[in-house]
Amino acid sequence: MTRDNAFVVVANRLPVDRTAAPSGWQASPGGLVAALAPVLRERSGCWVGWPGEPDVEIAPFEFEGISLRPVALSAREFEDFYEGFSNSSLWPLYHDLIVAPSYEAAWWEAYQEVNRKFADAAAAAAAPGATVWVQDYQLQLVPGLLKQARPDVTVGFFLHIPFPSPDLFRQLPWRDEITRGLAGCDLIGFQREEDERNFRALVGPSGPRSGTFPISIDPQAIRPGGQEDVETLRERLGAPETVMLGVDRMDYTKGILQRLLAVECLLEQGTLGRVAVVQLTTPSRERIEHYQQTRREVEEAVGRINGRFGEVGRPIVHYIHRPVPKAELGTYYRAADVMLVTPFKDGMNLVAKEFVSCCADDAALVLSEFAGAAVELDRAHLCNPFDVGSIQEAITAAVGDHRDARVDDMRAMRRAVLGHDVFDWAREFLGAL
Ligand code: ADP
Ligand code: G6P
Repeated sequence: MTRDNAFVVVANRLPVDRTAAPSGWQASPGGLVAALAPVLRERSGCWVGWPGEPDVEIAPFEFEGISLRPVALSAREFEDFYEGFSNSSLWPLYHDLIVAPSYEAAWWEAYQEVNRKFADAAAAAAAPGATVWVQDYQLQLVPGLLKQARPDVTVGFFLHIPFPSPDLFRQLPWRDEITRGLAGCDLIGFQREEDERNFRALVGPSGPRSGTFPISIDPQAIRPGGQEDVETLRERLGAPETVMLGVDRMDYTKGILQRLLAVECLLEQGTLGRVAVVQLTTPSRERIEHYQQTRREVEEAVGRINGRFGEVGRPIVHYIHRPVPKAELGTYYRAADVMLVTPFKDGMNLVAKEFVSCCADDAALVLSEFAGAAVELDRAHLCNPFDVGSIQEAITAAVGDHRDARVDDMRAMRRAVLGHDVFDWAREFLGAL
């Protein structure tokens, strides 16, 4: 081993995506990568993760000064660990049963095997006395396994998604094993105090040390679009009075259908004026039935709304189902009058923070009470996404508010986001660890 590896990040995904570029890889756009890259470079650290495709073995490689250690997953592990236990058992359970979780013993077997692979890779990489930071719900057994193999390392764990109340968590047939896995860490971090309280209520005082560390964005990563681009975009949308925007992974937690239904009701009432809705949606976990159903329902609503209220060459809902380059996202954020962020449940929701950092001063944010971001962005138009009437009220208020009130609220929220970025988040967690 030529490198020191005094700091190791373990996450389900490596911080790179395949490209046609000569190096074959580009940095993935997430804030986590941006936040940890400086720490990794400074401390000659490495990142252990899955390269994002099943059945490919890739040797460790260097990317922009960071050493990457790919963990290979077979097609069966992809199905049982990733699509199965991680995203059909844990994801719906931790998001308060928006859809019913399935629990299958074969998925649990694969979850244990794959967590063991990640723990072995981290144990092999970490220098004596290293700090290892494990990320998210896919890897909850890694702290325990790693501590067994390497009692000399300091292990941190951060859960990016909500932690459910003990009453829901107790459904999980392997609840004790998961709790024991997490208990191997020296510090466990949560997005909201409520998540931390749920965890503490489950493990009691004897569990690992915990803290609340709300994640944030890298403000340099998404820059607001220039005036010319913004004007061009609004022209292309038919120069409407109001541009509304949604930006989400296609996930049933995000409440995309519910916000469209709220818009449809307002169009029926004729109270919205000339409006264009832009819904940018990234494909996600596409082989899972609940994700397919969500996409079908969203696309059906888009078609129905345009059929009822659009004109030829002038739809109401402009719907994209593919990733939009980060460079363009800032133009959408800047062009929007009202941003719609309506998840049923969300650990944080970075889209809300990206919008606030980029948007015009007199733009407005409609935000679900159930997004972690609502704790800091409490001057948004908060709504209950389980109640379409509540989303309608929030949209109506956002569109109709006096400009001065909007500007005060938006500036206050922007100060909150810029005053606590993803670098602060990483520094605070690692400081506590
Ligand atoms: P989640 O982690 O559940 O997907 P977040 O809102 O916290 O939700 O983070 C989503 C990230 O993905 C943000 O950085 C956002 O910019 C990006 N993203 C989401 N949807 C799109 C899209 N349609 N095109 C490009 N980027 C997107
Ligand atoms: C959420 C999770 C992350 C996950 C991301 C994208 O943000 O907290 O752990 O990486 O969604 O999901 P995917 O399944 O594509 O990795």
